[in-house]
Amino acid sequence: MMDINNEILKLDWKREPYGLYEPIEYTLAAGGKRVRPQLAMIASQLFGGKDEEVLPAALALEVFHNFTLLHDDVMDHAEVRRGRPTVHVKWNENTAILSGDQMLIEAYKLLSGVPADKLPKVLQLFNKMATEICEGQQYDVDFENQEHVTIDEYLKMIRLKTSVLLANALQTGAYIAGADEQAQEALYQFGINIGLAFQIQDDILDVWGDPKTFGKAVGGDISCNKKTFVYLEAIRRLGNDAISLEAKELKHWYSQVLEDNTEKIAAVKEIFEHLGVRAACEKVVEDYTQKALALLNQLPQNQATEQLRKLADKLNTRQN
Ligand code: IPE
Ligand code: IPE
Ligand code: MG
Ligand code: MG
Ligand code: MG
Repeated sequence: MMDINNEILKLDWKREPYGLYEPIEYTLAAGGKRVRPQLAMIASQLFGGKDEEVLPAALALEVFHNFTLLHDDVMDHAEVRRGRPTVHVKWNENTAILSGDQMLIEAYKLLSGVPADKLPKVLQLFNKMATEICEGQQYDVDFENQEHVTIDEYLKMIRLKTSVLLANALQTGAYIAGADEQAQEALYQFGINIGLAFQIQDDILDVWGDPKTFGKAVGGDISCNKKTFVYLEAIRRLGNDAISLEAKELKHWYSQVLEDNTEKIAAVKEIFEHLGVRAACEKVVEDYTQKALALLNQLPQNQATEQLRKLADKLNTRQN
């Protein structure tokens, strides 16, 4: 099987002006799990597709994902990613904006390399997905300042900001390999569900990740007042107890935007732990993973289906 990481590292960014391209190289060389291109490749293999036909889409998806991260880190005031300073910290915000913009363009250039007869639909699906991610990111930042966020609103937000990219990777890989619409749809829904699990796991790691392996700043979501699944589960538990000291304290911390977040992170984490929300969040990750796995039964059963099962399991116990 083609080594997708290697293919990503083969992309050449030695171009002028260096101020534009170096941050792209820096970002893509920093690693990452490469989940999206892997999903596209495996989905194609599931239907006997040729690796080289889906590769342009797989590369486009990873470059596009990394573009979203450059802008996301500006929006989230995140200073570390993959164990390294983020682009807006190492360079500056203008660099993160413009190198990010260029990565989006590079993603489209790569995408246009899929077989010509497949390109119109691949583009249509990609555009729909890209718009949905922007919508999800807007809800994500809107919710920072919105006191009440329901679980349904949260699920819609993470479906948009995270799931649709995984789902698109799978559908696109399958479509290029010639899968029928029903199979594409089953894989898309598999992607939606592993995406929900993936984002809730990301929310858990943001609170309880090991700083040595996580690669991002632990507590970043708390600093930004992100309405994560962990926070919403805490609020749900405090529901009938809205005037308790603990509920007041949690809401108080979540109304603050601070320079130094050390005390806030420790205090909020203590409330989460006191309420025992972690196990409940992990259960939901497991539930969405099971829901995803059940969808795979509608698909051909071969080595690729096995790989998808393994990947889904690996993702929900991941530490980074
Ligand atoms: C980070 O994605 C953004 C989320 C959707 C949580 P990943 O966790 O896939 O990041 P990398 O590419 O492996 O670094
Ligand atoms: C990421 O959500 C979604 C996108 C980048 C589109 P997060 O903001 O939770 O991702 P991390 O935690 O910074 O990787
Ligand atoms: Mg972020
Ligand atoms: Mg974000
Ligand atoms: Mg996160």
